[in-house]
Amino acid sequence: MMNHKKLGNTELVISEIGLGTWNYTGGVDPLKEGIGQGANLIDTAEGYYNEDVVGDTVKGIRDKVIIATKVSGRHLGYEDVLWACEQSLKKLDTDYIDIYQVHWPNPSFPIKDTMEAMEKLVDEGVVQYVGVSNFSVNQLKEAQHFFPNYKIQSNQVRYNLNDREIEDDLLPYCLENSITVLAYTPLDSGTLSNTNTDSSDKIKVLNRIANKYNKTPGQVALNWCIRHENVVAIPKSNSVDRTIENCGSSGWYIADEDMAELNKAFQ
Ligand SMILES: NC(=O)c1ccc[n+]([C@@H]2O[C@H](COP(=O)([O-])OP(=O)(O)OC[C@H]3O[C@@H](n4cnc5c(N)ncnc54)[C@H](OP(=O)(O)O)[C@@H]3O)[C@@H](O)[C@H]2O)c1
Repeated sequence: MMNHKKLGNTELVISEIGLGTWNYTGGVDPLKEGIGQGANLIDTAEGYYNEDVVGDTVKGIRDKVIIATKVSGRHLGYEDVLWACEQSLKKLDTDYIDIYQVHWPNPSFPIKDTMEAMEKLVDEGVVQYVGVSNFSVNQLKEAQHFFPNYKIQSNQVRYNLNDREIEDDLLPYCLENSITVLAYTPLDSGTLSNTNTDSSDKIKVLNRIANKYNKTPGQVALNWCIRHENVVAIPKSNSVDRTIENCGSSGWYIADEDMAELNKAFQ
């Protein structure tokens, strides 16, 4: 069964496993299956060129699905953000975006302009909540400074057993400030789920723990991500079966001693 978490300090309830769509070519079926498995969050972006597929997927069930999309780093000027949002709404075939994220920080555009446009979109009700992606602690603080009337509710960053850099300062900062971390590339692009030909010591530990819980290595890798209080993982799969497998990463818990062993093996 899928577990849920609240987005940031809001009452919006999101599934611990969301559905990523970068390089997604699976059509509507895997996404629909994911929703059927309890995943109510789909992550897309104007830069993924597949918002239309997401729109097709949620037709008739729009109010049951949380759409997180992104404005590209090259569209962060005030007017550009408003324009990009309008394009996303058209492609998604919807009149609101649940979570609108700044895809990448871009020093070529003053973040003040970007956040003022975000504020206007929230004021108008076109965007429900605002998030960022690939922002450091300082970039988060700066963006929040120019967004005084609302809160940045999420930061989407790379996080998986092999990439734990955010544990130094970003993850604790987000936890302290009730910012949800949307963990992208949570399977390390498949490295943590396709473990058959990897005989490294750390993968041996992953495989052993997977056997212990009667789960797959990928499910353990995703469960490890979402064991962190404010983290939601957004794996991508083009396949219905692998989407079902990924959704099965929620609803159970790795014991503390096994978490410790994973943390040690994947230092
Ligand atoms: N904000 C950003 O800058 C940013 C950057 C990167 C990613 N993201 C988001 O995060 C999502 C996920 O990241 P990602 O796509 O980079 O990597 P990922 O989810 O870690 O891995 C995806 C790869 O793993 C394979 N896979 C998925 N489930 C599997 C399973 N159960 N067993 C075996 N293989 C499996 C997929 O192949 P199949 O499709 O063939 O199953 C695909 O090749 C993206 O789709 C996107 O929404 C955001």
